Amino acid sequence: MITKHGMSPATALILYNYNGKVFASTRAVAGAADAFFRLLLSSERVYQLMESSDFSRESFGDKSLDAVSGDIALQNVRFSYHNKGFAPVPVIKNMNLHIPAGESVALIGRSGCGKSTVLSLISRLYEPNGGSITLDGANIATLDQDTIRNNIGMVTQAPYLFSMSLRDNFRLIKSDVTDEEIVDVCKTACVHGDIMNLPDGYDTMIGEGGAMLSGGQRQRIALARALLKDYPLIMLDEATSALDNETQATIRDAIENMHGKRTVIMVAHRLSTVINCERLFFIENGKILASGTHAELLEVCPEYRRLYAEEASA
Ligand SMILES: Nc1ncnc2c1ncn2[C@@H]1O[C@H](COP(=O)(O)OP(=O)(O)OP(=O)(O)O)[C@@H](O)[C@H]1O
Ligand SMILES: [Mg+2]
Repeated sequence: MITKHGMSPATALILYNYNGKVFASTRAVAGAADAFFRLLLSSERVYQLMESSDFSRESFGDKSLDAVSGDIALQNVRFSYHNKGFAPVPVIKNMNLHIPAGESVALIGRSGCGKSTVLSLISRLYEPNGGSITLDGANIATLDQDTIRNNIGMVTQAPYLFSMSLRDNFRLIKSDVTDEEIVDVCKTACVHGDIMNLPDGYDTMIGEGGAMLSGGQRQRIALARALLKDYPLIMLDEATSALDNETQATIRDAIENMHGKRTVIMVAHRLSTVINCERLFFIENGKILASGTHAELLEVCPEYRRLYAEEASA
């Protein structure tokens, strides 16, 4: 430009100096545009997911109950999972059971017999294809979302914890929770000792999804979290990942601690965890095959006897 078009060296120097800045600003604008288009794309995907007809919509009734006592009953409940491209297979077939308020019971049976499915139906994650489920005598299909979510607590097989300190995980559930309350529920859930062994106790950062903790610890913390909400009905789907004897014993103690104060439905993968429960429901092939105490089941139910013998010899 200087030799052919008469640009002055001063102008050339100024342009040269600003060169970096011009490029940086252009890059910043381009980066913002990029982020903006990614945002558009992501939100489009999220909306597609929310509006997809592949997933059934949650529906609730409009009835609310106050002072729920936690009496739960299933009458002739039938259920199959409906997945696109697969023929529905009946998973729950005409199931009947009644759990009075304050009782601790266990659902037992072989892997895949439908235990977790029963818990999902009671917490209304799925809707039965037939029959009815009642909470304190009211069909849960008629109850509003708050009544269901504030009275039925579920601790799943793989509960999610957030990547923050343990204390903050509890604060998410109850913003004004005191340290005493946290320690209290953790003692009931038999996880206080584990937490005191962590490097920073209740202030330990537990990593993404609670990565720093074992499956059993994660589950007892999730149980403590549920206790903080004081649900009249708590369902606990025992973690399959941590089946050492110590975990079993602590879960057993936690159930003892909750006894009589609320209704507890426990899914156990080992009979020894729940041998002392007031009542066991033995599920086979989507039906309750027998119910009663461990001793009663041993007496009346050959299939239970077989399962118990298999476990004892394992
Ligand atoms: N989302 C799903 N879609 C289709 N089938 C499913 C789904 N979830 C579970 N099933 C099927 O339903 C049956 C019951 O499953 P469920 O998870 O209730 O068993 P489970 O008794 O809890 O087993 P486990 O002891 O291994 O946890 C199984 O045959 C399983 O393959
Ligand atoms: Mg299960």
